[in-house]
Amino acid sequence: MTFKLLSSPLQGFTDFRFRNAFNKYFRGIDTFYAPYIRLSGKLKIKPAYERDILPENNAGLKLIPQIMTKDADEFIYTAKYVQKLGYKELNWNLGCPFPMVTKRGMGSGLIKDPAAINNILNRVNAESDIIVSIKMRTGYESSEEILQLLPILERYPIKSIAIHARVGRQLYKGKVDLDSFQRCIDSTGHKLYYNGDITSVARFNELAARFPMIDHWMIGRGIIADPFLPGMIKSDTSEYPENRIEVFSKFHDTLLNDYSQALSGASHIIMKMRQFWEYFITSFPNSRNGLRNIKRAKSISAYEDAVGKILDNERTRNQVKRSSH
Ligand SMILES: Cc1cc2nc3c(=O)[nH]c(=O)nc-3n(C[C@H](O)[C@H](O)[C@H](O)COP(=O)(O)O)c2cc1C
Repeated sequence: MTFKLLSSPLQGFTDFRFRNAFNKYFRGIDTFYAPYIRLSGKLKIKPAYERDILPENNAGLKLIPQIMTKDADEFIYTAKYVQKLGYKELNWNLGCPFPMVTKRGMGSGLIKDPAAINNILNRVNAESDIIVSIKMRTGYESSEEILQLLPILERYPIKSIAIHARVGRQLYKGKVDLDSFQRCIDSTGHKLYYNGDITSVARFNELAARFPMIDHWMIGRGIIADPFLPGMIKSDTSEYPENRIEVFSKFHDTLLNDYSQALSGASHIIMKMRQFWEYFITSFPNSRNGLRNIKRAKSISAYEDAVGKILDNERTRNQVKRSSH
């Protein structure tokens, strides 16, 4: 069966610099979802959000912008704004689990208020011709919440609903709840996309076998942890290319270079790269202790040395593995 792989938005990670670097060195992602835009009380888009979705910063990528809001005016304003930039679709974030957001009735905190969601969709539908899609959790407290909401969503022409099969209260802990994802499939006529914990080719294949009706799969942290993953899923192989470390190294250097130009001061640049390494290191399990040196690095050259050691170690291991086959 043919299927699409989608890059799930990760605020602070999958910005346009990451997306462009990914697209230069890796394959397998059909569409990228931009991290959310959030307005701060005023109908105005902050420059950082704008920069992230400007078409000239996303050349050659298929991108869908996302909004996080509980306000119809904000939604309609942002819809018009992204349409002016040439986008046809706006994704609505009903998934963010962080208390700062959910306590304000946004992200997954809005799921338990179907009336508010209904009002917003009603107005968006009447006042805008944007294509709406949704990305959500199964609830905030309980996965019953989505079952209350789905019948309301049936009233609207929603392109797709991507479901991260956890409740907001779980944050990113615990298992994804595949039974509740199945209940969603059984309870809606809308097109559902699956999201949550696709971290390996084997895991993808298990999920694809369990949900044969799903043909859109969203991967978030798995792409940062291992940017080869989408391409390997598409080719159904767990084998890395022989030049794995060289490709990864060039990708890494592109990120480092782009963030060095965007951020000021070694500590900010190292901090940014360190956040990536918290994920990268999971696909280099033999070099886990290399993360310590990255965390200790106070200068770019110390940082580069620490990265060089990890990659040298992995290169040597790969050579030994290949020559022993
Ligand atoms: C650091 C971080 C930032 C995230 N930012 C967003 C975001 O901007 N919009 C969104 O819809 N989801 C966001 N998510 C959720 C992911 O897109 C995804 O739904 C979640 O991580 C589960 O998928 P995964 O297991 O493939 O990572 C974020 C998750 C993390 C860990």
